[in-house]
Amino acid sequence: MIILGIESSCDDTSVALLDITDTPAHLNPPFPTRGRNRQGRGETIKILAEKTASQIEVHKKYGGVVPEIAGRLHAEKILPVIEEVMKDQPKPDVIAVTSGPGLITGLLVGVETAKTLSYLWNVPIVGVNHIEGHVYSVKIQDTISKKNPISNFQFPILALITSGGHSEIILSTEEGKYEKIGGTKDDAAGECFDKVAKLLGFDYPGGPKISQFAETGNPNAIKFPRPMIDSDNFDFSFSGLKTSALYWLRDHKLSAMRINPIRLVAGIFGVQKEETTINDFCASFEQAIVDLLVFKTLKAVKKYQPKTIILGGGVSANKKLRETLEKEIKLQSPNSLFLIPYSLYSMDNATMIAVAAYHHAKNKDFTKWQDLKANPNWKIYH
Ligand code: KG4
Ligand code: ZN
Repeated sequence: MIILGIESSCDDTSVALLDITDTPAHLNPPFPTRGRNRQGRGETIKILAEKTASQIEVHKKYGGVVPEIAGRLHAEKILPVIEEVMKDQPKPDVIAVTSGPGLITGLLVGVETAKTLSYLWNVPIVGVNHIEGHVYSVKIQDTISKKNPISNFQFPILALITSGGHSEIILSTEEGKYEKIGGTKDDAAGECFDKVAKLLGFDYPGGPKISQFAETGNPNAIKFPRPMIDSDNFDFSFSGLKTSALYWLRDHKLSAMRINPIRLVAGIFGVQKEETTINDFCASFEQAIVDLLVFKTLKAVKKYQPKTIILGGGVSANKKLRETLEKEIKLQSPNSLFLIPYSLYSMDNATMIAVAAYHHAKNKDFTKWQDLKANPNWKIYH
């Protein structure tokens, strides 16, 4: 089945053309090293073409995504990107478009374009939830390493989807059915990374920059709070952490970044005191976010005993988060399969939208172009 994916819910105009088929049972590769035997059939996912036009350079100047500008840039880019992806390619059998959640200015561009193509080509549409796209991003093969992806999940799945707009723990007991187990009460984790990065003078999106600086910092240098870590649920809160980072920066001075592992020392009243570097600040702040995300996810794993655990969304590119969660899962839930997307597909992309559409398309879960609407608040769970 040839699927054209379209994603424009935030600041990436992304289009991908995929050929997805059920993998014949005898070709299903064995389950990777740990865990139980695989069940069910996987899919063979072939990327025929993909292209993303990022708007980051424009939004950088404003320190975040400006919805009005995002909408205009999506409108400018969507047809040239589709034209490039479709060059010398067959007409798709299905159009998959992110129809929510996200910025209405961006969603409208993708959805209206999908509707027009559906009308012109007489091809059905699957409206895909952006969060479901991030869940399915783990099925995509890394185009560079060509490592085999894991294309069939075992249910129940527990997914931590954490990005600039979302931080949610979702449970899926069967394909296409989702239940929200926990989520943020205020900011998303990526938003918190980006806001604190802005305080440090880093360009938007600052999450990757914080984690880069954190690599050579001391994660125990500053005792940032872990809001809601003891709450009797699976929810998060990041805005208090952001405020405490703000106050810390107001009340302290950071020394220059650490260029080598030898620490600078400063004498205060005859006592040798180590200065806190920007690396220490970033490492301590990153550690607080990672602790919160990992602690609540593991708490949910303990309760729901999932066979598959997924980490998705832009923040899943964070190395510390990937490694810490993987280590804890190995210790506390060794029989669960832990899946993370190849880093290219952690960020928003149309390939994951096309992959997520496949099971809907097989079930003929189409929406007529006359009925498809962009829904900025679309909840994946019922
Ligand atoms: O999924 P995504 O591309 O867009 C949204 O749906 O929001 O996620 C972007 C978010 C940004 O907040 C960015 O700072 C964060 O993901 N991010 C990271 C890292 N890479 C991207 N946060 C922390 N560490 C990273 N390495
Ligand atoms: Zn996203």
